[in-house]
Amino acid sequence: MCGIVGYIGKKQAAPLLKEGLKKLEYRGYDSAGIAVLGDRGLAVEKRAGRVDALSANVYGNCGIGHTRWATHGAPTAENAHPHVCGAIALVHNGIVENAHELRRECMERGEKFFSETDSEVIAHLIARAYRGDLLAAVKEGCARLVGSYALAVLAKDRREIVCARMKSPLIVGRGEDGCYAASDLAALPACSAACVLSDGDFALLNGENFTVFDAGLQPKEGEKVVFSAKEEDGALGGYRHYMRKEMAEIPLALENSCLEIGNIGDFSGFYEVLCHAEYIQIVACGTAYHAALCFEYAAEKLCRIPVEVTTAGEYRYRDPIVPKNTLCLAVSQSGETADTLAAALCAREKGAKVAAVVNVAHSSLARMADFVLPTRAGAERAVAATKSFHAQLAALYSVLRALAAARGTAAPYFSLAKEAEEALALSEKVQGWAARFAAARSVYFIGRGADYCAALEGSLKLKEISYLPSEGYAAGELKHGTLALVDGRTPVVAIVTSEALAEKTMNAVSEVRARGAGVYLITTLASLSGREGIADAVLLPPCEELYSPALTAIPLQMLAYYTALACGNDPDKPRNLAKSVTVE
Ligand code: M6R
Repeated sequence: MCGIVGYIGKKQAAPLLKEGLKKLEYRGYDSAGIAVLGDRGLAVEKRAGRVDALSANVYGNCGIGHTRWATHGAPTAENAHPHVCGAIALVHNGIVENAHELRRECMERGEKFFSETDSEVIAHLIARAYRGDLLAAVKEGCARLVGSYALAVLAKDRREIVCARMKSPLIVGRGEDGCYAASDLAALPACSAACVLSDGDFALLNGENFTVFDAGLQPKEGEKVVFSAKEEDGALGGYRHYMRKEMAEIPLALENSCLEIGNIGDFSGFYEVLCHAEYIQIVACGTAYHAALCFEYAAEKLCRIPVEVTTAGEYRYRDPIVPKNTLCLAVSQSGETADTLAAALCAREKGAKVAAVVNVAHSSLARMADFVLPTRAGAERAVAATKSFHAQLAALYSVLRALAAARGTAAPYFSLAKEAEEALALSEKVQGWAARFAAARSVYFIGRGADYCAALEGSLKLKEISYLPSEGYAAGELKHGTLALVDGRTPVVAIVTSEALAEKTMNAVSEVRARGAGVYLITTLASLSGREGIADAVLLPPCEELYSPALTAIPLQMLAYYTALACGNDPDKPRNLAKSVTVE
């Protein structure tokens, strides 16, 4: 993971680097650092903790910066980037898989290391190769690396920045006052020209322009990025946290992410493949994986097509069988999740057509896929996914409706923006539950069918930001072992939206109540509200059962949010995590 930035131009680099890094903190916030080249040579500032901890009192108009999510070595100032070796300073995002053997080689040559990171070894390799031509030295150093990297490199005696990319995103751009490099478009100011580097590319930035080179150092036309005039400003808009603000944006995300998929229009190529699909495989991680499970449940039930959802990190290692006419949906908010990218590539190599359900238009996943089904949630900054889950559901339910149409089945109409608005207001009551949850030993979320998918997501959200042990369970499965863990200090959240399955889930509710658990109900069924023995309930507006996770997820997200606050945690930046998981 990690975010990297670079600037060379007419302005002071340090404030621009700090500003860019703050926009990349979603990629990690364990430590931060900058290196700036000025009249007095190279100045480096590194700190443990967030970007705000940097004073940025270093002067010069050429520099690089880094915000870290620790992989090799603790989140200390020593392990923070930039790493310096001889004339070279560099920042790195990615993982050097052969770092151990390269480090041993360097140490045998008598070279000293000052950090435990895999990245420092790259500075050693480039410093060894550097004889006044930085671009050539970076190429030579990179040739020794196995793994992934996005690099921005400075040499003390040259006013230029060299960048390199292999399996970690990197964009370079030219603005009014100079040239920029960043892990993500969000960290670049408006640029008159910008390019996404491809794997194996290098780039050379000077104060006036940038040049992209291929793996053989031949100049090439880079892949252009178009700046959207409507880039969001990132303001909190009166909310205390991005997570809560992004929840308020759920109705819009639902509305904007419904896609018109048919034999005319933008998605006609995808529709053609969908019509011939005999098998659907979905790869995704975390919340996106749960959105995929919601689709699996609905598509199998309604369209009678086999759908197989696999956590992306497992997919390629089980040597999956990809039958003829398989459609692979790769679902990801960021489009940079390393496991999801690798799984999608694996599915394509085995003959599947890949459609990326993705929120970031220029992301690696969008660029590798045969088709792109955009989710239009807007930028999501809180680490906990909220509105992007809903946007993924809206896009996937659009696929469901197109699939049903292609198979001659009627799918219920999907549009829950108004109901989601109501659900947001109704869900505020869970603030009153938070103190009891914060004091709990562990929490269970139970449901059946689509409600089980929502239960998994509710549990992930709670553990991610409140740090409470929690599990999502199929309601019928508890009694096969896990019920032994339930006692008076174990709140249980039951999600019930299916008339047909309601009493079955309520049996599980009785079983946990009999063991002393306080039961909190989230339901769309008015018949269940006021049911005896329930600690409290959120009664949501009625909703088509297949689509119910789009509503039930709202009080679950709200519960996680308020419990995190009751625990004294920052819900936007939970410990140990990052928004974009670009390492395997
Ligand atoms: O960017 P992606 O959708 O590929 O990210 C996948 C997961 O890392 C992500 O959903 C994660 O589980 C969330 N932080 C959960 O809230």
